[in-house]
Amino acid sequence: EKGGYDHFMLKEIFEQPRSIADSMRGRINLDSASLQLGGLRDYLDKIAKTDRIVIVACGTSWHAGLVGEYLFEELARVNVEVEYASEFRYRNPIIKEGDIVIAISQSGETADTMAALELAKSKGAIILGVCNVVGSSIARITHAGVYTHAGPEIGVASTKAFTAQVTVLSLIAIATAHKKGTISQDLYRELLFGLDAIPAKVEKILKSAEKIKDISKLFTFASNFIFLGRGLNFPVALEGALKLKEISYIHAEGYPAAEMKHGPIALIDEDMPVVFIATKDASYEKIVSNIQEVKARKGRVIAIVTEGDTLIPKMVDFVVEVPRTNDLLLPLLTSIPLQLISYYIAVLRGRNVDQPRNLAKSVTVE
Ligand code: M6R
Repeated sequence: EKGGYDHFMLKEIFEQPRSIADSMRGRINLDSASLQLGGLRDYLDKIAKTDRIVIVACGTSWHAGLVGEYLFEELARVNVEVEYASEFRYRNPIIKEGDIVIAISQSGETADTMAALELAKSKGAIILGVCNVVGSSIARITHAGVYTHAGPEIGVASTKAFTAQVTVLSLIAIATAHKKGTISQDLYRELLFGLDAIPAKVEKILKSAEKIKDISKLFTFASNFIFLGRGLNFPVALEGALKLKEISYIHAEGYPAAEMKHGPIALIDEDMPVVFIATKDASYEKIVSNIQEVKARKGRVIAIVTEGDTLIPKMVDFVVEVPRTNDLLLPLLTSIPLQLISYYIAVLRGRNVDQPRNLAKSVTVE
């Protein structure tokens, strides 16, 4: 059932070229350069007209929501708030009739997310779902939604569900932007073709698994880790840290790279491994200086870089390359090496990666 892999988590990491493609299948048509989201047929107009979208989720799904925030704001120029579902419901959230609330949930059974939706619904919001499990509780109470088609995810640590969520959020953001006329036809086409090319690029990254395993060996006994990224790679940093905590029990923190100087830099010394997501995007120059700051304090740096980068490899201890893509699609690539780093470190530490202590696959208690 693990398809020849040692663990479900590894199998699910390697399934991502297919699960990402499945989450786009029948939705993107490259011949006509068009995008159809059947599940949102009656709601896309409303999403395009709203001036505020609230995203509610927990854990990894909340990180996908943060990626969604960047995408919606950049492409569709709409104000987005991403809330921890648990916090949302214990405040007195400002939701008015007709507001759009999107829940993201792999299982569709997370009690906190469900309760947040019930609250939003009672206040007259339009509630939409991005769920993986068909017919789940969240899928049933929402007015409409778009399924991720990642297939069953067994490993407690979410991997392929995350990339499927990011894929679907990209589709919704692109469709909204197209409807609103906030993106050019050129960018619309570039993103659709860019998405279509992602599975093959993920396949290419997975070929670095052995190299990532070798790097991981050198960090097996680290007791802390910092993950840094900017822009869309900031939520990827948070997700990288969560993954490592969950399955290896190593203390890890994710930060926006620029926030480091406001405190976390005090932690840097020769014993502190720092993972930089440092692709050639709009923040490249800035992240290069953040790397210098860490190296000047003798931090050990693993950098996720764009293929062909010649500068960062000279500055850091280890690099893992990812192919080029449109900046907005980077999380679909940069999250993959981080999943593998966590996986290998956890295995090398002898952890039960598929069923880490204290965690359940779906958290149905509040
Ligand atoms: O099923 P959901 O997406 O609603 O689950 C939300 C979180 O409980 C989940 O993402 C959790 O953080 C995972 N263990 C992450 O690997």
